Amino acid sequence: MTVTASPSPIRTTRPQDSRPLVVGHRGAAGYRPEHTLASYRLAIELGADYIEPDLVSTRDGILVARHENEIGATTDVADHPEFSRRRCTRTVGGREVTGWFTEDFTLAEIKTLRARERLPLLRPSNTWYDGHFEVPTFDEVLGLAEEGSRRRGVTIGVYPETKHPSHFAGLGLALEEPMVAALRRHHLDRPNAPVLVQSFETGNLQALAATVSVPLVQLVAASGSPCGDDRSYADLLTPAGLADVATYASAVGVDHALLWPAGEATVSAAHAAGLAVHAWTVRDENRYLPEPFRRGTDPGERGDAVGLTEALLDLGVDGVFTDQADTAVEARRRWLDRTARPAGPDPSSRRHPRGRSRA
Ligand code: G3P
Ligand code: CA
Repeated sequence: MTVTASPSPIRTTRPQDSRPLVVGHRGAAGYRPEHTLASYRLAIELGADYIEPDLVSTRDGILVARHENEIGATTDVADHPEFSRRRCTRTVGGREVTGWFTEDFTLAEIKTLRARERLPLLRPSNTWYDGHFEVPTFDEVLGLAEEGSRRRGVTIGVYPETKHPSHFAGLGLALEEPMVAALRRHHLDRPNAPVLVQSFETGNLQALAATVSVPLVQLVAASGSPCGDDRSYADLLTPAGLADVATYASAVGVDHALLWPAGEATVSAAHAAGLAVHAWTVRDENRYLPEPFRRGTDPGERGDAVGLTEALLDLGVDGVFTDQADTAVEARRRWLDRTARPAGPDPSSRRHPRGRSRA
């Protein structure tokens, strides 16, 4: 990575209330096709504190918001005969994937596509919007957050995730440099900026810790290992793992399946290491809820996501990713009403130990 060092070496305290964060996962993916400006805009209107773009690269090195670099499931690319020959099979993160890949398209070509609902059977009303929205660039998402901050009169943060950073680095399309450049264009690579950068990989976060001022979040999956790391995700949640994560990150973003119902010790251990804990991803539909929070047997029916979110907050988590920001806002309101919560570490307010390498 060739990003030049940030002029400010230390993350300093940002005045911020200690309410748990509501993160609009892929925008408001429960109501609009994910990772579109319409989805992010709605998340802001519904009360999200942060909006979450997943970032991948185009062939010409522009970052766009997609959950993965294969875009067959979330755009109308299959309906474009001019791109039919670009369909191929590729190994991404150790997995063989067939489809169309952002790294084979220029931004101009991506902009001719339109977004589609990923889950048409589960979220049929979202398909009303199929064909209406472009794939946004990261710059456009940052601009939308600025506009939303003005409109709502509160600061809307951006919580970008680098997707498959090793894959893109291997193609000569590393994500980190354009991401940092975009943050700098928007005056956001500074201490106290409303930005949290996340990754499932460890190596790119460790490198970013030496180059950017914004807080970093280590994502932890329920199984497997970070690409390029010989430890498992479970290892990262041990006291030794958390201590290591704390050398470069300010928070862990943890699959809620690892937290509810028995994750109190994990949350406490992360807090003891100085790390905030953000849980992902709460969704309203029964299909995604633990059994006690389901209502009925239809996977598409809404269960008690408010209840799950409150339960996660009871365990001490400091933020929740949600597909339906209004649900999480309501859960937080109820939770704040019934509890006086001691503040956990604020990932945006740590003085961060920089430049320390892993032992
Ligand atoms: O980034 C938190 C959460 O979004 C991780 O899962 O697969 O939705 O990016 P994913
Ligand atoms: Ca994500």
